[in-house]
Amino acid sequence: MGTPQQQEDRLSPPEAKWWVDGQRIRHKGFWFKPEFITASEAIRAHYTPLPSDIILASFPKTGTTWLKALTFSILRHSSTIHDDRDHLDNLNPHEVVPFLEIELFGENPSKDTTKISCPRVFNTHLPLSFLPDTVMTSGSKVIYITRHPADTFVSLWHLYNNKFGTEISIQEAFDDFCKGIVPAGPYFEHVLEFWEARDRDGVLFLTYEELKGKPEENVKRIADFLGCKTMVEKVVKECSFENLRGASKETGEGVHWSGTKYKMFFRKGVVGDWKNHLTQEMMKELEDIAEMKWRGSGLDL
Ligand code: A3P
Repeated sequence: MGTPQQQEDRLSPPEAKWWVDGQRIRHKGFWFKPEFITASEAIRAHYTPLPSDIILASFPKTGTTWLKALTFSILRHSSTIHDDRDHLDNLNPHEVVPFLEIELFGENPSKDTTKISCPRVFNTHLPLSFLPDTVMTSGSKVIYITRHPADTFVSLWHLYNNKFGTEISIQEAFDDFCKGIVPAGPYFEHVLEFWEARDRDGVLFLTYEELKGKPEENVKRIADFLGCKTMVEKVVKECSFENLRGASKETGEGVHWSGTKYKMFFRKGVVGDWKNHLTQEMMKELEDIAEMKWRGSGLDL
């Protein structure tokens, strides 16, 4: 039941089956599996952010794994925050930073997070509007990472093809991406929500491209934002694509909650791979959508 808007949001049109992986529903304008919506409601009801909490937020395939590793490593090598985290050689970044909507409130809607040692580091693919308002007022820190939509889409397309062993035509997948009918989509609205919060204390807006271009400078930026001194060069090296990919091979066939093998989170790790897959017309389409949806926000491609 619910209001007409809620009913409309819960309609699951045939095209929302993407991409072989079960049902999706639209909730408050974003597409998710129904269990993520339930979890987001539990988060709003039961998660109390602490001033020391660190929330890593992202749209899928924009550098989530890298940001988890970097944050973990920054804290581990911090001389100002006491932290006894294990070495990343022994762990996958997804094992060390839990998703709010999956490992925590997805598994147990009234999860008691008070036992987790501080600083607690969480991760989410939920849009800002799905999180409790107190995330912005409690003094906790939010780091959002984003990436050019063309590379984000290509990374997503590869993941789904590899994961399900099904060749989805790039055009079909691209059309879904442009319409926003992808996990956590639409991409453009997801980014915009965090962009509009970027000037607030406690929000750091980062891009994958900045991190690739100037890793030391941006690791320092993250560490400063977290209020800690860390071993910048060591962190950059420990979290390099080659290092993390190598470690994920060592841990072999380890599987992430989504059924994705850990090693699938390390594909190419470059900027501009879209040129090998998308046409100039497709790029123009993304630019036009960005221009339309981000107009006046100061955000552009
Ligand atoms: P590609 O598929 O373009 O290679 P997410 O972690 O959000 O799922 O994003 C995955 C993307 O980040 C993949 O992009 C992956 O290769 C890349 N990636 C993972 N670890 C990285 C690292 N340490 N440095 C740079 N890119 C990394």
